[in-house]
Amino acid sequence: MKVAIIGAGKMGRWFTRFFLEEGDSVIVSSRSKEKLLKIRDEFGVEIADNVSAVKKADRVLICVPIENFEAVAKEIQPHIRPDQVVMDICSIKEFPVKIMHEYVKTGITLGTHPVFGPGVKSIENQNFVLTPVNDEEKRFAREFKSWLEERRANVFIMSPRKHDELMSVVLGLPHFLGLVVCDTLMNYPNFLETKKVAGASYKMLLTLAEAVASEETEFYTSLQMDLPEIEKIEGLFLEKTEEWINMVRRKNGSAFISKMELVKTKLKEVNPDYARSYEVMHRLLGTVKS
Ligand SMILES: NC(=O)c1ccc[n+]([C@@H]2O[C@H](COP(=O)([O-])OP(=O)(O)OC[C@H]3O[C@@H](n4cnc5c(N)ncnc54)[C@H](OP(=O)(O)O)[C@@H]3O)[C@@H](O)[C@H]2O)c1
Repeated sequence: MKVAIIGAGKMGRWFTRFFLEEGDSVIVSSRSKEKLLKIRDEFGVEIADNVSAVKKADRVLICVPIENFEAVAKEIQPHIRPDQVVMDICSIKEFPVKIMHEYVKTGITLGTHPVFGPGVKSIENQNFVLTPVNDEEKRFAREFKSWLEERRANVFIMSPRKHDELMSVVLGLPHFLGLVVCDTLMNYPNFLETKKVAGASYKMLLTLAEAVASEETEFYTSLQMDLPEIEKIEGLFLEKTEEWINMVRRKNGSAFISKMELVKTKLKEVNPDYARSYEVMHRLLGTVKS
């Protein structure tokens, strides 16, 4: 099978390697010639412009940022054959799925979201969301799900809307928290000293905060601006922050205990094993033997 990867950025490179390791043939197209030449030299793949890549491929995987998605769909649509499959990997699904339906009138389309970044080694144990919306897409999504599961990925099928609602929490909330924590710490005069004496929970928080801050500003901004439930979840977070800080301000220890107990009870209902996360955190930090 020949796969066209459109967009030779971080994820495009990741999927290039992935499909090559699967034994597929890969043709890559991108906006910048420099990136294309680099990917050709590194992987020995064929490179082309978007249209030529689509014409030569059996499957097309669009790996461009959401801002560039419509332009790509518009450019390639006259060249898509009925036997081709066109998939995207955008981290938001409603918009690209709508665009694919608007432009791609031949071939099968499927919205996908690999819920992992370019740092992972394989898809084993990684989450994938597929967002088919009609019968043809649902049939193909079931087939693709089995294929991914044979490679030990965890695959979830849901509507684009549901995906975007869940991602408001899964991506939006930790990114928001990480950035606010970074901003807070950058305004705290003894930050460097805190790092030296850090315990496990602070190390964990710092890892999240610094990892989020190291990411691309455009990508993280587009997620905060476009995820549909983001204001709702971040608004709830602010509301909850107010509740907790008020107990601290009033030095109301008994209210704090009751609230913490209530949170523990609720957590236990949804995850009886939640306390094991303490061990998991230490294992991740390498501070206990696994
Ligand atoms: N990064 C992640 O962790 C992650 C995880 C899951 C899903 N995703 C999704 O994957 C997609 C790509 O993310 P990324 O991190 O790989 O972004 P990236 O590193 O910025 O790469 C995007 C690539 O798309 C190319 N591009 C833009 N417009 C194009 C066009 N009209 N024709 C051809 N190529 C074009 C860019 O080329 P130039 O560099 O020449 O402009 C760039 O190489 C996004 O939709 C993102 O939501 C990302």
